[in-house]
Amino acid sequence: MITVIDTENMSKRFGEITAVDGIHLSIPKGEIFGLLGPNAAGKSTVIRLLSGILDPDSGGARVLGYDLVTEREKIKASIGYVAQSFALYPELTVAENLDFYSAIYVPISKESQEKLLQEYGLEKFSNHRAGLLSGGYKRRLSIACALAHDPELIFLDEPTAGIDPVTRKELWEQFYILAAKGKTLFVTTHYMEEAERCNRLAFIHHGRVVAQGSPSTMISSFVGRNIYTAPTRHSSGLAAALLAMPGVQVLNQFGDQLRIITDASLKSGPLEAAINRQCGGHVKVRQVQPDIEDVFISLTHEEKPS
Ligand SMILES: Nc1ncnc2c1ncn2[C@@H]1O[C@H](COP(=O)(O)OP(=O)(O)O)[C@@H](O)[C@H]1O
Ligand SMILES: [Mg+2]
Repeated sequence: MITVIDTENMSKRFGEITAVDGIHLSIPKGEIFGLLGPNAAGKSTVIRLLSGILDPDSGGARVLGYDLVTEREKIKASIGYVAQSFALYPELTVAENLDFYSAIYVPISKESQEKLLQEYGLEKFSNHRAGLLSGGYKRRLSIACALAHDPELIFLDEPTAGIDPVTRKELWEQFYILAAKGKTLFVTTHYMEEAERCNRLAFIHHGRVVAQGSPSTMISSFVGRNIYTAPTRHSSGLAAALLAMPGVQVLNQFGDQLRIITDASLKSGPLEAAINRQCGGHVKVRQVQPDIEDVFISLTHEEKPS
């Protein structure tokens, strides 16, 4: 197995803030690796470190076998990087943007350009100005530009944030094709649906990796908590009553279903009684299997003040 990214206790501070706090990651070739975390968790900083844009304050990493600090130029030549707010040249056409970005590395052949435009559904816009594309097509183009020099390792910082689900699905189909060709993809996200598509995940919170594994192992190794659902509408009185109960950790409302994460000791009976006291009804509380969002919320939720 070839390891493409291997970080060793890597940290980065900005003044008082420790944006990345001693992380260890090991990512094999051909994997789609997801770094999942809330806003300001440190996701973009990890990408900026691993792509040689920022220097770590301590620790380090090998990327594609090269040392992050001393062999940075070799790393830069072999990676693609789609930043969170990727700059296209709005007055250049779609095809000219691709020409421009690939020329930084190796000029792209006409044939490769056509293939890339087709893969990302851009062929019909080839001569349109990039600035006139919709948000979804701008994102497709920014990903195509980052792939124009055929990099081995691709960093995608929130690649589908703000993008409709159909475009997201199509982009992910391309990501799977890239991984099947042996490319390694490093994706950051805060979408659970996107996280579940990754081969392996790390959860980052306040700069620390708090859990790592495949989505299914993360769910199966999630012990010590119960997940309940109850068919009930949100009310602030109900939320306050439940959160005041010992053992209730997090409430998460989905339409008419309330999802309740509790300590393993809390049974459904007391929850049901509390809900029915508040709502004056006969609501049934059901215990369910956790999903990746439950794991994520539990790992990143702040303890209730006692
Ligand atoms: N250049 C910078 N200068 C100062 N603080 C920064 C800088 N870049 C990031 N930070 C801070 O580091 C933390 C992590 O940021 P970031 O990596 O962008 O998080 P994420 O991508 O998970 O939202 C945040 O608190 C952010 O404000
Ligand atoms: Mg970010």
